[in-house]
Amino acid sequence: MVRGAILLLATMAMGSGPEVGFRDQVAPILVDRCLACHGPKKASANFRVDTFARLMADSDAGKNIEPGKPDESLFLDLIVLTEPTGRMPKNADSLPKGEVEILRRWIEQGAKSGGIDPNADLAGLVAKARRPAAPAVYRTPVPISTLAFRPDGAELAIGGYHEVTIWDPSTGKLLRRIPGLAQRTQGLAYNADGSVLAIAGGTPGESGELVLADPRGTQPPRFVASAPDILLAVAFSPDGSLVATSGADRTLRVHEVASGKELCQVKQFADWVTGVAFDREGSTVAGSSSDKLVKVFDARTGKLLTTYIGHGEPVLAVAFDPDSTRAISAGADRKLHVWDPKVIAAEDGTAAQQEERFKKELSTRMIDGFGDDVLDLVASRGFVFSASADGKVRQHELASGRLVRSFDGPGDWAYSLAVEPAGKILAVGGFDGGVRVYHLEDGREVARFVAAPGLGSTVGRQDEAN
Ligand code: HEC
Repeated sequence: MVRGAILLLATMAMGSGPEVGFRDQVAPILVDRCLACHGPKKASANFRVDTFARLMADSDAGKNIEPGKPDESLFLDLIVLTEPTGRMPKNADSLPKGEVEILRRWIEQGAKSGGIDPNADLAGLVAKARRPAAPAVYRTPVPISTLAFRPDGAELAIGGYHEVTIWDPSTGKLLRRIPGLAQRTQGLAYNADGSVLAIAGGTPGESGELVLADPRGTQPPRFVASAPDILLAVAFSPDGSLVATSGADRTLRVHEVASGKELCQVKQFADWVTGVAFDREGSTVAGSSSDKLVKVFDARTGKLLTTYIGHGEPVLAVAFDPDSTRAISAGADRKLHVWDPKVIAAEDGTAAQQEERFKKELSTRMIDGFGDDVLDLVASRGFVFSASADGKVRQHELASGRLVRSFDGPGDWAYSLAVEPAGKILAVGGFDGGVRVYHLEDGREVARFVAAPGLGSTVGRQDEAN
């Protein structure tokens, strides 16, 4: 009997009842009730609750939390004070009983982190946990703002609502869903061996994020960076070691893929940075902007190397030719500009010679014939493919500027496009949520579908109903 009683006491001391989850139960209370005065912006009494490590660290009064001993923890003492002076949260009603109970039991049970990274940003974790799940079945299609082929061409990744969906491009069959993402995805890119899918997006006007995901969906997505506004585009360096994003926060960022470390953050834009691309060596990175310029930077240091001023209208996309040093940019002036940043930036010769070379390069190659803005670009195997708001996707030969073929996009806007690395198939995404896949060799349509789970995804290629 005595032994039983001791055991019972021991279990009570260990904290009875079901285990309290730090991330799901404790962190939301800290973020909602304490973070405003105990975080990075304001740290009253040098006590911070923005990470688990800081929560457990000493503040002005020393140790706040004694694991296993709620009644000896200043943290809990200040929460349960009946006298409002000095009670936490300061100058507010006392915490509801249920929340006090959660905090007490969590300390009783040993004040554990529950396996989260002790340095992870708790506000970010809580925001993510509170995210709505992707709808099982979509009520309306979402505009296809981005799509990307896995390098072997067997899978096509498409941005959805709080998720990325993966499709079989030859049949339009939904293969898999990668959930837990930001509201919108604006940029998708696979690395060269197809083992990592970079996903850039966010909520307009609120937040942006870059996630590196396992395209097979077996590992949870790795959160790499956040931004104060939605990210618009993402690109890998050719060797896959760097990833760059551009965003509505007028910023271009470069990260190391292995460590997630930010190498540079470039703020030299006056408006949205709409597109981002690495050159074939991966040493420079270009950003196109609604401020009408394209700027090229050293990818590691962020040093400005070249500014291209030839558009005179918002620039909406930029790409590098994988086989030369040339860049291609396009946008609201309805022309493709083919230019060489190395020629523009070269400093040899007299000032007059430089000036002349610059002017010549600005007018070197313009490809026109577009009925509306050019929204997306891919350069591949000697060709440049462009998607336009006039509804068409065009294939031009880069060397001559000759139009090789024009493909009908889905709906009125051809909003995004992707070309399989082997150069056999092309996919076009529409503002209306439709996707069309074409054979490049003969221009034949391979598949056509609405890329929204549950919305009759396979329309079939014979269906010419519109
Ligand atoms: C409105 C601002 C505000 C909020 C919200 C707030 N605190 Fe405080 N907190 C303070 C201030 C200011 C102090 C310094 C002592 C004082 O003025 O009472 C403090 C002190 C503390 C201390 C003592 C630290 C030390 O070293 O002296 C702890 C522990 C604490 N707060 C915990 C919390 C917890 C837990 C919450 C959320 C449930 C919370 N606080 C919410 C303003 C706030």
